[in-house]
Amino acid sequence: MVKSDVDDLIRDNGMSEFKISDVYALQVIDSRGDPTVEVVVITEGGGVGRALTPSGASRGTYEAVELRDGDRRYNGRGVSRAVDNVNKYIAPSLKGLDSRYYRHVDRRLIEIDGTSNKSRLGANAIVATSLANVKAAADTLKMPLYQFLGGFKSRLLPAPLMNVINGGLHAGNELSFQEFMIIPVGADSFSEALRIAIEVYKELKKHLKEKYGPSAINVGDEGGYAPPMKSNSEALNALVQAIRSAGYVDGLDFMLALDAAASQIYNDSSNTYTVDGISMTSEELIDYYVELVNTYPIKIIEDPFHEEGFKEFAELRKRVASKTLIIGDDLTVTNIERIKKALSLDAIDGCIIKINQVGTLSESEDSINLLLMSSKRAIISHRSGDTEDPVIAHIAVAYETGLIKTGAPARGERTSKYNELLRIEHWLGGDAKYGGKYLGKI
Ligand code: PGA
Ligand code: ZN
Repeated sequence: MVKSDVDDLIRDNGMSEFKISDVYALQVIDSRGDPTVEVVVITEGGGVGRALTPSGASRGTYEAVELRDGDRRYNGRGVSRAVDNVNKYIAPSLKGLDSRYYRHVDRRLIEIDGTSNKSRLGANAIVATSLANVKAAADTLKMPLYQFLGGFKSRLLPAPLMNVINGGLHAGNELSFQEFMIIPVGADSFSEALRIAIEVYKELKKHLKEKYGPSAINVGDEGGYAPPMKSNSEALNALVQAIRSAGYVDGLDFMLALDAAASQIYNDSSNTYTVDGISMTSEELIDYYVELVNTYPIKIIEDPFHEEGFKEFAELRKRVASKTLIIGDDLTVTNIERIKKALSLDAIDGCIIKINQVGTLSESEDSINLLLMSSKRAIISHRSGDTEDPVIAHIAVAYETGLIKTGAPARGERTSKYNELLRIEHWLGGDAKYGGKYLGKI
């Protein structure tokens, strides 16, 4: 059967209420006040899906292309070209397709873009369309999105990697690593996990204010505090202290996670990294991580080396094998070819999944499935510039990844995901399970 026959089949399968009747986009703003794309997809049955595109600050080189206007308005950050692309090219091409066949809709998006990195229409135009489409299909069925995508078997709520101290590009301080996270693994439910994590977040606030003064409790891009610390261990010590003074046990109730976002501290010309003001070779940085892992209950390290450092990832992975998971973000950019490469080189225990890194839900789904079928982790993630769209909460539950990264329990664009997870847990009632236990204790 040729492609146009499949199109005809999908257009004319007799279930007209799922057919896309309208698609349009407009320019709205994200959590940093930068313009972003909102897409609305409407079905003939009256289903409405609305999705907003997030945006990263520490972006990987191999991510799909985010189209920005580059003119005087909004310091070049406008997205009117991406919005026009939805209205002029995407909308007419999707009308009449059955929204339930989201993989087909996504293929159409990839096809009309026609580039390998979505640079023609813009990944920021494509991702919101892809997500608005599945939301419209779910809405037509009057079903929550997690259930539409995952079926009635999906009932695992993710453990949050909660970023409570912000550094790197996400904060105006001198912390070299970008994210210092707590993972409430010891809870029995998602709502309990959120409660105990918030108790630690508040203890941390008290501690930082006492030790560093009131400006230490200003928050960074992802809602974590941005204290004037100079070393990574200072931040890790503060996390351990906050866990203990909230009455919990580090290494039992809580694990820690780090995102070094090491491409940002990597010096290409000398092949070194600047950590805590000191220049380190890859070998020295491996020893530094090993020492951190032996000192603190660190369960996850994300992007410990720069985005081409497959070999160094694999080396570190060998050294910390039984204790700590090594996770790719800028290394793998949700791209299945890069994930396959990382897997074949034994470089990772899992990946961060950011739908806008690759551009469509289906491609992200392929990456998630590959990871889970390879007994690896898939951590569904927000971006540092995000929106009130809670869609990743549904994605994490739908694919039962057991892990999500969506910042501190502060700022509306972060709490929208936590609140949606609370709702999903409520809807699932006694069927809900919590992913914390599956991460394992140290
Ligand atoms: P970004 O950072 O959204 O600014 O790229 C998040 C991360 O690196 O995990
Ligand atoms: Zn990252």
